[in-house]
Amino acid sequence: MNCTERTHYCGDLRGSDVGKKVIMLGWVRRQRDLGSLIFVDLRDRSGITQLVFSDDRDPKGFLQAKTLRSEFVIGVEGTVAFRGEKDKNPHMPTGEIEVEVSRMEIFSEAETPPFPIEDQAIVSEELRLQYRYLDLRRPLQSQRIQMRHKLTQKARQKLTEEGFIEIETPCLTKSTPEGARDFLVPSRLRPGNFYALPQSPQLFKQLSMVAGFDKYFQVVRCFRDEDLRADRQPEFTQIDIEMSFPTEAAVMGLAERLVASLFEELSLKPQEAVPKITYSDAMERYGCDKPDVRFGLELVTVTELAKGSGFGVFKSALESGGAVRGFALPPGTAVSRKDLSNLEEIAKPYGAKGVLAISRTDGKPVGSAVKHIGEETALKILDALGAKEGSTALIVAAPYTVACASLSALRLHYGRELGMIDSSKHALIWVHRFPAFEWSPEETRYVACHHPFTMVRDEDIPLLDGDASKIEALAYDMVMDGCEIGGGSIRIHREDIQKKVFKALGFSEEQAHERFGFLLQAFRYGTPPHGGIAFGLDRLVMLLLGCDSIRDVIPFPKTTSGLCLMTSSPSSVDERQLDELKIKTVKE
Ligand code: AMO
Repeated sequence: MNCTERTHYCGDLRGSDVGKKVIMLGWVRRQRDLGSLIFVDLRDRSGITQLVFSDDRDPKGFLQAKTLRSEFVIGVEGTVAFRGEKDKNPHMPTGEIEVEVSRMEIFSEAETPPFPIEDQAIVSEELRLQYRYLDLRRPLQSQRIQMRHKLTQKARQKLTEEGFIEIETPCLTKSTPEGARDFLVPSRLRPGNFYALPQSPQLFKQLSMVAGFDKYFQVVRCFRDEDLRADRQPEFTQIDIEMSFPTEAAVMGLAERLVASLFEELSLKPQEAVPKITYSDAMERYGCDKPDVRFGLELVTVTELAKGSGFGVFKSALESGGAVRGFALPPGTAVSRKDLSNLEEIAKPYGAKGVLAISRTDGKPVGSAVKHIGEETALKILDALGAKEGSTALIVAAPYTVACASLSALRLHYGRELGMIDSSKHALIWVHRFPAFEWSPEETRYVACHHPFTMVRDEDIPLLDGDASKIEALAYDMVMDGCEIGGGSIRIHREDIQKKVFKALGFSEEQAHERFGFLLQAFRYGTPPHGGIAFGLDRLVMLLLGCDSIRDVIPFPKTTSGLCLMTSSPSSVDERQLDELKIKTVKE
């Protein structure tokens, strides 16, 4: 037998295999030399098997085994045997057996790795990413990537069963704005011109509907040059979906069935119904459009009560059209002066100038603001916020969006701090009825909240010629555990409406034609109503596997500053390459 013809993976063998002749291939996890016996833990992507070499059985192999060090790659032939009773390891799936080796081949030797290839090893993320191929050998990390594969295949299978076909769309394409910056690729054959890497295949999937494919999907890489966070990468993968003639409910139904199938793949119970909440209710109750609904601490607006108080902080916020909002902490949660200044540090990045705390103690309102507001109003505010005896309410007076964002951050802080989030549970929710447009002070124009190809409600179409701020989009996001896992919409399929939307976004006719002429033209040749959604595969896998960072489920991720530490990219290129592209760089 040749030692490369594997019969079993290292995680496969059980007591029922005792007596079988096997060939296994893998990495030496560790070698223990006990004199007349040498034990070796052999590891591959599936697990670990204990090998035993004995001087009697195979003197040549025994001598070779003495030279084995961690991470050598070997192949062995041997026979499966029960371990002695006292050597059994109930913590290992293969802990009942060992393989008595009769022949071994060393395929490659290894230097001492920069960190131990063990789950428990404490290693900086920087070093892990620099030696990602070693990090991926660690059992937990390897399992995550293998689970990602299973979930991706399940998604493909489910969508195929639902009648969708996978269609590939180009990576070198024209920029489609989705709110982020494009990664540009210079064209050698047309110097001065650039392709853009797709932020998503949005227009190609719409054009696939014009082409008559009816139900499209693609597991597709997308590229966005934006500021990175724990749940964002510059290149990430979407499960991208589009269908012809759908209602919003039809897209949502399909998306729910898809997510349920992924839960089942992991033997998790799918959520029975996914509740819908409008964007404005989400802002009102949670202060954000991707609420974690696994805990309460809901926000309440108390602007009306605050109006008559004469308190300067309330007055200045209200005079500039703002709101007074807050929420109550559970009774017994003390908020010291020091806590309050920490809370202000959390709220300030969102624009809040400060945070007020009022407690109800022995039936009376207590807090530095009470003397300004008056006891009566303070009690009414506490009632409205649901602050019971012994409870403290946190209040922010600011422009509505600032009050929402800062209170949302405080709510999340306390949800975590007070252990109110059961991280073993998942909560899915739809957020829909988003505004179609929002005003961008930087660009001094309206920008699309979802993207410019999103249909507006029928009754709002006339508003496209007037006040765009009031228009609602047929857009929806699926949110899981406070993270946006998917977003989609019903699309515009008529040239006249699409042109009006471009106009509302401040594009001149020439600009619209130059950028999207091909789409407008396609709409002239018979376009079915269509709509869809795209899931962030990385985010979904991250949440389903209970990981804290998207990087844990991406084989070769970038750092939060967009670097690949393993290959040291981005990096400079040869002058010759730049010359060919007719590109000159400017040194900063
Ligand atoms: P959207 O921009 O909402 O919609 O993206 C869809 C989903 O992709 C994930 N996502 C990301 N994941 C990791 N890193 C990123 N930088 C990143 N950006 C987005 C999120 C998000 O919900 N073309 C539309 C879809 C449609 O309308 O059908 C689109 O791309 O989970």
